[in-house]
Amino acid sequence: MSAFLVEGGRRLRGEVQVHGAKNSVLPILAAAILAPEECVIHNCPALSDVTASLEILHHLGCRVERTGDMVRVDASVLTRDEVPEDLMREMRSSVIFLGAVLGRTGRAVMSYPGGCELGPRPIDLHLAALRALGVEIQEEAGVLRCAGRLRGCDIALSIPSVGATENAMLAAVGAQGDTTITNAAREPEIVDLQRFLRALGADVRGAGSSVIAVRGGLPLHGGSYTVMGDRIVACTYLAAAAAAGGEVEVVGADYRHLSTVSAVLAEGGCVLRSGPDRIVLRGEAPLRAVCPIRTAPYPGFPTDAQAPVMAAFARGTGATVFVENIFDSRYRHVDELRRMGADIKVEGRVAVVCGVPALHGAGVRAHDLRGGAALVVAALGAAGESRITGLHHIDRGYCQLDEGLRGLGAAIRRV
Ligand code: UD1
Repeated sequence: MSAFLVEGGRRLRGEVQVHGAKNSVLPILAAAILAPEECVIHNCPALSDVTASLEILHHLGCRVERTGDMVRVDASVLTRDEVPEDLMREMRSSVIFLGAVLGRTGRAVMSYPGGCELGPRPIDLHLAALRALGVEIQEEAGVLRCAGRLRGCDIALSIPSVGATENAMLAAVGAQGDTTITNAAREPEIVDLQRFLRALGADVRGAGSSVIAVRGGLPLHGGSYTVMGDRIVACTYLAAAAAAGGEVEVVGADYRHLSTVSAVLAEGGCVLRSGPDRIVLRGEAPLRAVCPIRTAPYPGFPTDAQAPVMAAFARGTGATVFVENIFDSRYRHVDELRRMGADIKVEGRVAVVCGVPALHGAGVRAHDLRGGAALVVAALGAAGESRITGLHHIDRGYCQLDEGLRGLGAAIRRV
């Protein structure tokens, strides 16, 4: 079992480049199925979720080639429209293949993705959007059998779900006629997906706003595309610098996508300055308490940044309240942070973090992706050595996190 060994208490200094965004590259890889020609995708990070997506593409009959951070996907011939359960289970976001395969072939058989470490993750909105597009879906024994002639329609999402918006966009590109998605998610990754689809010849407009319009049924072609930088990885490096102190320049993410997180860190006492593709944080740890942090759909405070930012505020002065509004079970890092000396109380969706003067190193375990990153953040600001296990969670979304942090002077190694 591998682990990160972190010797905390060193200030961080230097520049770090963020890799391509996990939450962009996964729907983009699925979207490559829609085009019957080769797509070349650059800035594709070496993450286990990307490997799982490429396995699904390969299983469906695509030719897949990965060279460094470039991936070629040629979906000219699809030999299958079903994804077996073991591949679906490897990655919760595999549900995104439903919209893409249906958009291309009008048929798909996939197992229900089920719950995950963040609690139940229903897909009712995904299925309702696909049904509205004319897909008949039979659910039996955890398997979804989907088929239909897809026709454009009006889809109104009851909540702005990221995955449901993406699935609806992908299926609508393959449907005949016009689709309007109302109350669409506005995350930057949706804009990235729209840009990729447009690069293939699709007519998709409005991403980034609450209404997305798709003119479906156009012939698509191959294309080349560079995935945007990962804003959550950028937030994690900022939280690390805030926790450990020092001055760090994070390059490769759009500072406008980080504004709610930067505002909170600035309120806590860090000094930030930004350019179009970079953001510099100078921190004199410890942080002081800030106004309540409430997670919300974009452009609100991202749920994915909640855990790493909480870890930074664990050492500090005063009490900061966190309210997790997106997922039911997203405080599993709290017990682990307590082992390091943090004073955090959780009641339902609310966590109250009373900053302590110092954290100490401890043996802790990652239970989910961002919670795992939070443990790394806390360990960097703690006195003494921490041993972090459960790295398979962290590897789903961070490519060589230890190497990036070592480049900033952190004492972290994978053993
Ligand atoms: C995506 C991101 C994830 C991020 C989340 C919220 C990817 C691969 N993952 O996940 O990192 O934390 O957005 O920003 O992009 N819901 C339903 N029914 C549905 C779908 C969702 O009730 O059919 C609920 C969920 O349980 C959750 C909320 O809607 O409470 C938001 O989920 P959603 O935006 O769909 O998140 P994901 O797309 O799964």
